[in-house]
Amino acid sequence: MSEVLNISNLSKIYQKGTIEIPALRDINCEVDKGSYLSIVGKSGSGKSTLLNLIGGLDKPTSGTIQFNEQELGSMTRYQLALHRRFAVGMIFQSFNLIPNRTALENIILPLVFAGIPKRQRKQRATELLDQVGLSERINHLPSELSGGEAQRVAIARAMANEPEMILADEPTGNLDSGTSAEIIDLLVSLNKEKGLTILMVTHDKETAEAVSDSIITLKDGRIV
Ligand SMILES: Nc1ncnc2c1ncn2[C@@H]1O[C@H](COP(=O)(O)OP(=O)(O)O)[C@@H](O)[C@H]1O
Ligand SMILES: [Mg+2]
Repeated sequence: MSEVLNISNLSKIYQKGTIEIPALRDINCEVDKGSYLSIVGKSGSGKSTLLNLIGGLDKPTSGTIQFNEQELGSMTRYQLALHRRFAVGMIFQSFNLIPNRTALENIILPLVFAGIPKRQRKQRATELLDQVGLSERINHLPSELSGGEAQRVAIARAMANEPEMILADEPTGNLDSGTSAEIIDLLVSLNKEKGLTILMVTHDKETAEAVSDSIITLKDGRIV
């Protein structure tokens, strides 16, 4: 299997006034294309910081993140925007859907940013909703969806521009155990059937062990 991600000597120190908060220290890891990696660790151990750096939402203090052999730190702002738009899809514990837009409109939005023509956008968004089993909820607002449905919409949105990797930050953190299992099943099927590489932060070690090819445990910003 070829490597999609190579992280080398990665550190992130947040500056809060005069205080330095080391969120990640000397992280080294490699991720194969098509693999399912889980990241576990206590609250505050640096899990979200790591996903945000890989997603290009933030910059490392030192070290490198190579995505398909391209160093994120040496990308221009434009290249980094393309990375966020096309290479990775992110999902979050709190879904982060736009409240006053319907399920369909939430999925159309990244297609607008990608410059997809209007006619194709609606068709593609409809297909994506169908793929996550939500064809009946097209015109629902986020407030009219259950947590599990909202996360399905978020997953469809993350897949809109056919990313190579899904970055999932505690995707089941707000869901009951039955719904969590459904969301995990959906992620596993995207991994197995579409070959999407998945990086998932979770508190649930049992699930991580059941579904992942490998697990990283963070403690105080370090891999243990
Ligand atoms: N934007 C920020 N500014 C300052 N400190 C931050 C910021 N984001 C996270 N931190 C700190 O970095 C550490 C790691 O946070 P985080 O990556 O969110 O951990 P986790 O996702 O594992 O709970 C924590 O101590 C947190 O308080
Ligand atoms: Mg977090």
